[in-house]
Amino acid sequence: MHEADFGVDGQSVVVTGASQGIGRTIAETFAAGGADVAICSRSQDRIDPVAEQIEAETDARCLAVECNVRERDEVEAFFEAVNDEFGGIDTLVNNAGGEFVAAFDDISPNGWNAIVDLNLGGTFHCTQVASQYMREDGGGVVVNMSSVNGQHAAPNESHYSASKAAIIRLTETLSVEYASHGIRVVCVAPGLIQTPGVAETLGIQSEDMPPREAVDRRIGHTEDIADVVQFLASPAAAFVNGETYTVKGVPRAGNSMSADLGLQ
Ligand SMILES: NC(=O)c1ccc[n+]([C@@H]2O[C@H](COP(=O)([O-])OP(=O)(O)OC[C@H]3O[C@@H](n4cnc5c(N)ncnc54)[C@H](OP(=O)(O)O)[C@@H]3O)[C@@H](O)[C@H]2O)c1
Repeated sequence: MHEADFGVDGQSVVVTGASQGIGRTIAETFAAGGADVAICSRSQDRIDPVAEQIEAETDARCLAVECNVRERDEVEAFFEAVNDEFGGIDTLVNNAGGEFVAAFDDISPNGWNAIVDLNLGGTFHCTQVASQYMREDGGGVVVNMSSVNGQHAAPNESHYSASKAAIIRLTETLSVEYASHGIRVVCVAPGLIQTPGVAETLGIQSEDMPPREAVDRRIGHTEDIADVVQFLASPAAAFVNGETYTVKGVPRAGNSMSADLGLQ
């Protein structure tokens, strides 16, 4: 009789942008599932406590490396360190990302480049470098992080929306280019998720968060995204390739994160 395998036990998993928020919970979830995890952020001081907590609370090894995903040389050094430590890379989660809220006409060229370079450029660098190690070992999985704001109009977040839309098309394209290397490329598009980044950028606070069991008009928890990411990296998702999974529950104000935030 067939039994579904949602396990990630024994995998070597890289999660970018894991000092807080969705990335941190993804790393913790993989570690709790028996994977070794390598995590990065722009600050060693912010990433070290995450690794210490993961190693204290799970049997997993956790490698924490300071790495700005916009910097190619730092990305190359990070993945070389992961390969040396864990002997390969099975799954890459391109989670590092960010934004600021501004009308299109108010975004400076520097501001535009910073957001596109972080969200899309970081995904480009990490995927290109990690895939070299994956193909040496016969394959792997890349999970990209888009957003519902990459799927439809997102007023006052045009730079973010454009970069997240590009990630969806990049996912589809790479799923074809990398298929012969045994690498699946998939994507998750979260709706509004309560994270430190959202609290800081958009002023959403976590008081009175409904529990995960609630299905009607709530903000998401980071675990809502981590569970889907783990599924996509597991053997159970072996025939899922090139797709974007929207994970948004029932938004509070209609069909859009921007509407939820009162930005449209
Ligand atoms: N929260 C939401 O509602 C939501 C919705 C849709 C999509 N998403 C996407 O989900 C991902 C995580 O979102 P979040 O809300 O958890 O974000 P967050 O709370 O702002 O955390 C962002 C993480 O990325 C790291 N980071 C930022 N710039 C980096 C860089 N250049 N290099 C390496 N790491 C970097 C940050 O670490 P340091 O500051 O320590 O460097 C931090 O760990 C992002 O891609 C975001 O666009 C979020």
